[in-house]
Amino acid sequence: MTLEKEVASRKTFAIISHPDAGKTTITEQLLLFGGAIRQAGTVKGKKSGKFAKSDWMEIEKQRGISVTSSVMQVEYDGFQVNIVDTPGHEDFSEDTYRTLMAVDSAVMVIDSAKGIEPQTKKLFEVCSMRGIPIFTFINKLDRDGREPLELIAELEEVLGIDAYPMNWPMGMGKGFLGLYDLYNNRVELTHPELNGDNDFLPLNEDGEVDGDFEFKKSSIYDQALEDAQLLVEAGNEFSEEKVAAGKLTPVFFGSALTGFGVQTFLDAFIDFAPSPSAKKTEDGELIEPLEEQFTGFIFKIQANMNPAHRDRIAFVRICSGEFTPGMDVTVTRSKKKMKLSHTTQFMADNRETVRTAVAGDIIGLYDTGNFQIGDTIFSGKKAVQFEPLPQFTPELFNKVAAKNVMKQKSFHKGIEQLVQEGAIQLYKTYHTGEYILGAVGQLQFEVFQYRLLNEYNAEVTMTPMGSKIARWIDEEDLDPNMSSSRNLLCRDRFDQPVFLFENRFAMNWFADKHPDVELKSLL
Ligand code: G4P
Repeated sequence: MTLEKEVASRKTFAIISHPDAGKTTITEQLLLFGGAIRQAGTVKGKKSGKFAKSDWMEIEKQRGISVTSSVMQVEYDGFQVNIVDTPGHEDFSEDTYRTLMAVDSAVMVIDSAKGIEPQTKKLFEVCSMRGIPIFTFINKLDRDGREPLELIAELEEVLGIDAYPMNWPMGMGKGFLGLYDLYNNRVELTHPELNGDNDFLPLNEDGEVDGDFEFKKSSIYDQALEDAQLLVEAGNEFSEEKVAAGKLTPVFFGSALTGFGVQTFLDAFIDFAPSPSAKKTEDGELIEPLEEQFTGFIFKIQANMNPAHRDRIAFVRICSGEFTPGMDVTVTRSKKKMKLSHTTQFMADNRETVRTAVAGDIIGLYDTGNFQIGDTIFSGKKAVQFEPLPQFTPELFNKVAAKNVMKQKSFHKGIEQLVQEGAIQLYKTYHTGEYILGAVGQLQFEVFQYRLLNEYNAEVTMTPMGSKIARWIDEEDLDPNMSSSRNLLCRDRFDQPVFLFENRFAMNWFADKHPDVELKSLL
């Protein structure tokens, strides 16, 4: 296949959702369509789409320690679909946010009983900031949930994005008859056996189904027709450009658990989700995916993913050219040249050695300390540096110290390596040189403590400092006397001065007192 065709066949996306909305379940379904879960007995009862739990659990069990679930590749309908996992609440972190820098679109899964939940909103905002297309799947229609019109209104109000329902549920819970599918001009039925064994029936010119079918006897059908009419007349207009710009989200309904509506969603997703596009460098130049020169950037580093190997893997999103094993590349930051011979590609069932990979693909490089998050690598002579990855302002802070002074060395080594992974940020107090950790979520601290002990044999004490507001200032504005009991002056690991304010009041007070000092936040 030519490079052009290869790149055009890539669809790289992440699923964003609040825990329990059904991300894992829908991922299973997508892997299933792509044949990535293909062992006999994996799938029980085709109609219900119910999985044999034990088989999936084997894969699930490896989550977090295994590469395999970080990026999943499946082939579907001639496309190579790359699903990049965003860790759920258990390890919600900067890592989760940064993963969204490596994808070309996002699928937002919403529980129909709950609507927009806090984590969905946070992740949505990061996608929105990048202007990437967002596709919405409203899940769990096999249960009673909220009214679909109300959910659409909430989506638009809370997230500030226009919504365009591609299909519309006919009922829900026990009365879930199927989907009134405006995009495909058909209805899709949950109970084909009651309707002449039809999974799908076409709509006539008036938007109705011809013929005498069981589902049409229900008032639910009439209600769906009425709703659909309302949507056509009063709803948003569909615009492919707006979808591409992340200003309009196509909305789909279904039930991941029973597998209903998932393929209908996937087919339309494939139609509209973008293939890899050009990426901006630091100098504002655009690197096209079809350029011959190989380029990519590192968006995540994970240490010791496989305890048996004690390896570190740097995840690279390829932006242009073609990757071939053994190729020579340069790391822009350090100017270090290296041969990429130890690489891995991600499949749902095992790690496979990468053969060729193109823009949109994600490869893993075994790392011995050469890479940092945000690094660009390139082949050939012309140095390329992509725009820096955003850093996210941490909200929670803990003081950290080694319990045993004899173990200082492993403590420092562990901290340095884990901080380099980017899941947690490190600060040093300006006056006393104590270590402070900052993170987006509480669980990061526990994971950090656990890993320091298990991987570096360093026991630490953590003293929670609660939530603070972190604001950076310019070096030339720094006066150590600005520090008071309500703001703690620190330096970050790049030596930049940063204040940790007790609360918004303390920050405003500071701003009033030092009007010339600019207080900067990350994202
Ligand atoms: P997550 O990755 O987003 O956290 O969600 P996950 O897929 O694990 O789903 C969370 C729970 O919601 C699971 O139930 C799952 O079976 C259920 N679920 C997912 N999709 C649907 C759906 O379409 N309909 C219904 N009714 N339930 C759905 P659980 O009880 O927490 O776990 P389990 O005991 O079923 O494994």
